[in-house]
Amino acid sequence: MSTHIQIQNVQKVFQTTDHPVVALKDIQLDIPRGQFVCLLGPSGCGKSTLLNAVAGFSLPTSGRIRVDGQVVSEPGPDRGMVFQEYALFPWMTVSQNVGFGLEIKGMSKPDIRSRVDDLLAKLHLSDFRDRYPKDLSGGMRQRVAIARVLALDSPIMLMDEPFGALDALTRRTLQDELLKIWGEFGKTILFVTHSIEESIYLADRIVVMTYRPGTIKRDVMVSLPRPRDPSGAAFNDLKKELSWLVMEEQQRHQADELKVLTTD
Ligand SMILES: Nc1ncnc2c1ncn2[C@@H]1O[C@H](COP(=O)(O)OP(=O)(O)O)[C@@H](O)[C@H]1O
Ligand SMILES: [Mg+2]
Repeated sequence: MSTHIQIQNVQKVFQTTDHPVVALKDIQLDIPRGQFVCLLGPSGCGKSTLLNAVAGFSLPTSGRIRVDGQVVSEPGPDRGMVFQEYALFPWMTVSQNVGFGLEIKGMSKPDIRSRVDDLLAKLHLSDFRDRYPKDLSGGMRQRVAIARVLALDSPIMLMDEPFGALDALTRRTLQDELLKIWGEFGKTILFVTHSIEESIYLADRIVVMTYRPGTIKRDVMVSLPRPRDPSGAAFNDLKKELSWLVMEEQQRHQADELKVLTTD
């Protein structure tokens, strides 16, 4: 498989008023086309920072990110982002939200209509096409956010804890649908989560990150056949192994927070 996303020696330092925060350090990662990668770690270990750098929203302080060999210097249509908080336009209906990017691209009205109809059907949103985001459940809104990225046909999907705010059942349904979409469209997916179980359920590869500075702690290939059974032995062995790795970073995070409390 050819390399799709290449992250080369990436560092990111945020200048804050009292001290610089090293959010990412020495990140090296080659992601082949079509791979489903989860970035896993507790809060504060730089997952969003790395995703935003690949998206081109916030560039690295040093190092390079390449997509198809081209250095990322700004956001582009080859990379679609799905956020945890529903970044939908509240004044647009479901179908207008999904078709918005296509309108910007100058696609004809009938073409937009048929593309949007296809995607709405695929994501079980057809009955909701004229609703506004405020009248949808969280799960439905995330379906719209996914449909909007699919409409643009970006080969790369970047997802920042997209199911983090959903209840367990809705979350599982959307995970299954995402896997189906991934299989059907052959996307390369970079998916941020702090849920160990979610990462094992979804990913070909789990990249565990450390807390401040954010580095790659472990890069694990997951070869379990899909659909994966969260109650199976192999699933649970991996869960145990990853729990140790994540727990250590969680403890470092907590120790850091306590330090701030006692020096305030
Ligand atoms: N704009 C910013 N300014 C200063 N510090 C930031 C900024 N964005 C993120 N950070 C810090 O960088 C670290 C990584 O943040 P983030 O990428 O959001 O982590 P995660 O997504 O894993 O929770 C955190 O310590 C956070 O406080
Ligand atoms: Mg984050």
